[in-house]
Amino acid sequence: MRGMANEVLTETRAQVGIVRINRPDKLNALNLATMDGLVAALTGFDRDPEVRCMLLTGSERAFAAGADIGEMSDASMVEMIRRDQFSKWERIRRVKKPIVAAVSGYALGGGCELVMHCDIVVAAESARFGQPEINIGVMPGAGGTQRTTRSIGKARAMDMVLTGRMLAATEACQAGLVSRVVPDEHYLDEALRVCHELADKSPLALQHAKEAVLKAFDTTLSEGLEYERKLFYMLFATQDQREGMAAFLEKRQPVFTGK
Ligand code: COA
Repeated sequence: MRGMANEVLTETRAQVGIVRINRPDKLNALNLATMDGLVAALTGFDRDPEVRCMLLTGSERAFAAGADIGEMSDASMVEMIRRDQFSKWERIRRVKKPIVAAVSGYALGGGCELVMHCDIVVAAESARFGQPEINIGVMPGAGGTQRTTRSIGKARAMDMVLTGRMLAATEACQAGLVSRVVPDEHYLDEALRVCHELADKSPLALQHAKEAVLKAFDTTLSEGLEYERKLFYMLFATQDQREGMAAFLEKRQPVFTGK
């Protein structure tokens, strides 16, 4: 793979931007440099008109085993506040194009929170998910108490956050943290296949649909429904809407141009 700093590798394959966390000897622990690399890679692909979808992955042993404990262990509260390491995550949250996570091995702490910043999560059968911060005397800080609760409910979120227990991929999938579980040897192929499928769709429809689903985390049902309706109507200003509906009526495959 080419590009970026060593901690994060990037590559483009047929309109899919691939981002790989690359600190395998530290189980891809997310130190500050890795987070900077991740933000640069994801926001860079978000701006790149040749890219329609992103794949985020790690190594076979670990998607990411959390924030880098060594980097935080001696920090004071004031240093942590000044460092403001979680504000970077906001930039990932604002990425408009879909991000597909391909997860193998550990997705713990910040790794699990990073998974929750992705839109579709493909997990290898042996992948493990958890928020184990409680075991090192702290708690999640990048959404692990908020996004878990909204996506898997209070009972399961409390179980994860208070006990630090790891969930196997199938349990994480049943709970709603993961979209699909596949045999270990297929997790990357399957995630890439999903990315290519998304890359063939209308980019504007994808972005609006992603935005609408994420809105549900933030607002009331009636406001969310209103928002969804407006985004739906807006798509009727695109050529892709004309093309998609014409192709259906003409019984052919649509070709979406993002206009
Ligand atoms: N931060 C910094 N380094 C980490 C790390 C983290 N979150 N997770 C793993 N590493 C490092 C280990 O220190 C070790 O480095 P070393 O070889 O220089 O000693 C290397 O990665 C391999 O990890 P190791 O613990 O030896 O592997 P393991 O297979 O025995 O255990 C885990 C795997 C994931 C269970 C274990 O590494 C772990 O519990 N990690 C921390 C998870 C965590 O608490 N995350 C939340 C952080 S806020």
